[in-house]
Amino acid sequence: MSDSIDTVLEKLQDTGHSFEDDLKKVTTANELEETRIKYLGRKGQISQYFRQLGSLSPNDRPKLGDALNKLKTEIHSKLENAKRSLDSNQNGSKEEYLDLTLPGAKPSFGYRNPLLQVMDEIKDIFRGMGFRIETGPLVENEYYNFTALNVPEDHPSKDLQDTFYLEHGLLLRTHTSPVQIRTMEKQKPPIRIIAPGRCFRKDTPDATHSPEFHQVEGLVVDTHTSFKHLKGTLFAFAQKLFGPETKVRFRPSFFPFTEPSAEMDIYFDEKLGWLEILGSGMVDPNVLSGVGIDPKKYSGFAFGMGVERIAMLKYRIDDIRHFYDNDLRFLAQF
Ligand code: PHE
Repeated sequence: MSDSIDTVLEKLQDTGHSFEDDLKKVTTANELEETRIKYLGRKGQISQYFRQLGSLSPNDRPKLGDALNKLKTEIHSKLENAKRSLDSNQNGSKEEYLDLTLPGAKPSFGYRNPLLQVMDEIKDIFRGMGFRIETGPLVENEYYNFTALNVPEDHPSKDLQDTFYLEHGLLLRTHTSPVQIRTMEKQKPPIRIIAPGRCFRKDTPDATHSPEFHQVEGLVVDTHTSFKHLKGTLFAFAQKLFGPETKVRFRPSFFPFTEPSAEMDIYFDEKLGWLEILGSGMVDPNVLSGVGIDPKKYSGFAFGMGVERIAMLKYRIDDIRHFYDNDLRFLAQF
């Protein structure tokens, strides 16, 4: 038995109310679409009323038909309105986020690694004393890295344990001294150069060792160049880098490519005492004649310093690995 027309009309009214209730709860476009399908969809509630029309008497049919069409139009236009206000709410909330009075995001500045800062300082000091800057390859051969520098065949620094050897007799340079040879090969005296750059040795990393490090090499070749010039130049350098009160001392040392050789120490304080900062010496006559410079006519001095060590002493940095970690907490301090 089907419902009487009055019952159907009442139910239709309830459907209208429940649509209103559902619509009030809608907050998103998805929920709105769900509501539309629930009422106006092919299997929706309104469609189901339409399907009942056939079972009604010819008298009752137009009554339900009119009411259904009215409700359908009403639901349709309410859904449209709801859609429009959802859209404009969304735009509205976007505008709320764009607060033009907020201060802009501060760009954070990068920092120059203290190692490179010290490198620049060293370069500036020597440039001020009339030195030019030379560079050489990081991948060297045995001739430039050892042989031309008078390093004997059995010298411990040539050991496989200390030097990174590559194929075809190549190696990673273990010091910047090969740039001395390359410079003297292509330049006639007077020569006054520094050669800053990276070097490599097979060291296990710890607080004071790194397989990759930096040196600044220096070379002066001229007539009458003497040990006095070496001392005067390096003393002036130390005072410019560490301050005018800086005390230095020279200790005899040995390098195959200089004779005599000396290491320069700087006095830091009572706790640190005297610390070595560079190796130096008069260019060995063998090295000069090897590159075609007459050692009877010319003499020269050379020096080489470890930039990491100098930067560590200057800024009291206790671990060499800080230079390569790129930790902003470290870098931001310089
Ligand atoms: N090349 C030497 C080293 O790496 C330093 C040095 C350079 C010594 C020039 C004397 C002259 O230890």
